[in-house]
Amino acid sequence: MSRKVVLAYSGGLDTSVAVAWLREELGFEVVAVAVDVGQEADFDQMQDRALAAGAVDYVVIDAKDEMVTDFVTRAIAANALYEGKYPLVSALSRPVIVKHLVGQARRTGAVAVAHGSTGKGNDQIRFDVGTVSLAPDLEIVAPARVWGMTREQSLDYAAKRRIPLQASASKLYSIDENLWGRAIECGVLENPWEAPPEDVFGLTRPTRDEPSEVAVTFAGGIPVALDGRSMPLVQLIEDLGRLVGSYGYGRIDMVENRRVGFKSREVYECPAALALILAHRDLESLTLERDLAHEKARLEPRWAELVYDGMWFSPLKDAMDAFFAASQGSVNGEVRLALAPGRCTVAGRRSESSLYDYGLATYDAADRFRHEDGAGFSRIWGLSLANWSAKQGPGAPSAVGGPGESSAPGATGESAGAGGQGGPGGTTGR
Ligand code: ARG
Repeated sequence: MSRKVVLAYSGGLDTSVAVAWLREELGFEVVAVAVDVGQEADFDQMQDRALAAGAVDYVVIDAKDEMVTDFVTRAIAANALYEGKYPLVSALSRPVIVKHLVGQARRTGAVAVAHGSTGKGNDQIRFDVGTVSLAPDLEIVAPARVWGMTREQSLDYAAKRRIPLQASASKLYSIDENLWGRAIECGVLENPWEAPPEDVFGLTRPTRDEPSEVAVTFAGGIPVALDGRSMPLVQLIEDLGRLVGSYGYGRIDMVENRRVGFKSREVYECPAALALILAHRDLESLTLERDLAHEKARLEPRWAELVYDGMWFSPLKDAMDAFFAASQGSVNGEVRLALAPGRCTVAGRRSESSLYDYGLATYDAADRFRHEDGAGFSRIWGLSLANWSAKQGPGAPSAVGGPGESSAPGATGESAGAGGQGGPGGTTGR
């Protein structure tokens, strides 16, 4: 009986050739698994292709709900943007796929999992590290890392075996797509100076120019409604993405640091992801206590880095999720997004859990803030600096521009040293 391998099957050239290669070169029985994470794909046609390439079985798994419930909601809670820009589109989908590969391997008694990643991308790390985190006993095979074929040779390999492919010989870009967005690489984009040609875009083609607004409602940090209409999150992401994308909003053009050590020019379109993170972060500004907000903001980039680096199933990432989850209880309310060509901006926000207190914030008659407390607060807040300043000798750089303002160096130092404002009580009345 031959050994089984479960292959993450995308239906593209590489994974189709991988089906035949795993069988012919390594003697595996190949189970092709297509995981639906919201990509544009014809899953029936993929079945024909996988079987034509020699797979013993083909399985489609709809993981869209799971991807939003267990993965995207955490990314939103973490306002996750790798290097401040990239909402982790591919990085979020790989652990979803890995979960299902491992599950399928267990159900079919496979000894190995396989994926179509090359040796120079981040996705291989996410597949490999994800797999060892869940199933350290499984063998991992990545044919494209070892077969040493060029694109032309792969096309030839497929043609010889009559594997039916789409017109992929002329494919200009490498595209990875799911419900959180679309990543576009290769071709002219490999020159970071070259502007992305308009035809690389699919989700952000500008078709509307009259300004409009949309309100996003959050409950516990999770988006639950658009303009007051409740809907499942998968649909909300689709609807909002289509709307903001129609204004041409959601494009990202960046040079990114890959985990494998080199810089890569990446173009993304993530209309829903960017709009939701924008709205979520804004609602947090209204509803999170100050220290919590600041500490959370410090942890967010680390979370994005971990997920980018393939550490989804790590104890650190889990612990950070627990922290973020604990922060989200008060993140309830609505954010108004104003849409115009190329733009999506926050126009307003409101919340039952709002920490905004009009009586404290206003300068008009309703002002309840105790202004007289300000002086004592400032005096003590600045006490250590006042003390430090007073002890500096003449000519101390900190004294430049201080009391007795003068452009002559030295003169200013003396007046600070004299303690005009430095001594105890020196600032009373201010
Ligand atoms: N650079 C992005 C990342 O590492 C996108 C990867 C896209 N993957 C692909 N197979 N084209 O997450």
